[in-house]
Amino acid sequence: MLACKDLVVAYGDNVALHGVSMSVRPGETVALIGANGAGKTTLLHTISGLNEIVSGDILFEGASLAKCSSDRRVARGIAQAPEGRRIFPGLTVEENLSLATVSWRSWGESIAADFERVFDLFPRLKERRKQLGWSLSGGEQQMLAIGRALMARPRLLLLDEPSLGLAPRLAEEVYERVRLIAEAGLTILVVEQNTVLALAVADRAYVLETGRIVLEGTADELKNNSRVREAYLGR
Ligand SMILES: Nc1ncnc2c1ncn2[C@@H]1O[C@H](COP(=O)(O)OP(=O)(O)OP(=O)(O)O)[C@@H](O)[C@H]1O
Ligand SMILES: [Mg+2]
Repeated sequence: MLACKDLVVAYGDNVALHGVSMSVRPGETVALIGANGAGKTTLLHTISGLNEIVSGDILFEGASLAKCSSDRRVARGIAQAPEGRRIFPGLTVEENLSLATVSWRSWGESIAADFERVFDLFPRLKERRKQLGWSLSGGEQQMLAIGRALMARPRLLLLDEPSLGLAPRLAEEVYERVRLIAEAGLTILVVEQNTVLALAVADRAYVLETGRIVLEGTADELKNNSRVREAYLGR
């Protein structure tokens, strides 16, 4: 479904991705794990069209995304829930969700079913649908960010550190929802520093270190890999 080929991405002279190749097959949940500054967000932003490519290419469903704007990528089925949540603090839950649909949906088209789907998945958002974004807890904001990405009816969902800044219990709760979304058949690429949570939900995973993929395998292979155990699982 998604294939990154030899991606090189730089911020000025600072090369953040040194020829990254990775892929996601339809229906898979793939995790990208790595420490601070490894280039995880850079890779997701490059897939969403927020970063320019120096060289290499990204294929989505067989076609290059090279000349595709980030808006077009959303319309083609790629939606990202950003790191740090970035919801609109001054808007209600409902407004945050409906804003996600305006860039690509024709006016007047019903989004009731999309609301229903998000509220089924996150009943807490339904209870708080008139509440302003800033007043939500960290976990609720994360759920809203994921819900907002789902409103775009993606075929590929990109998640950037959904556990970031959450207490362990809440991070697990968010990941339970990620698992439900995956079980419903959506293809997911999730970036995480929390290796335990990411490998628990993923089918396959890649390890990114200073802009290079250094390891890849099934989630089980990586859980048992000595390098992953020492560097990322702390045992
Ligand atoms: N807008 C930017 N301008 C310049 N350099 C940047 C920019 N964004 C990221 N970088 C650099 O690119 C490298 C990769 O950053 P990136 O944010 O992709 O890492 P990350 O793996 O997502 O880290 P974290 O886990 O902390 O979110 C880092 O060295 C970072 O300093
Ligand atoms: Mg990041």
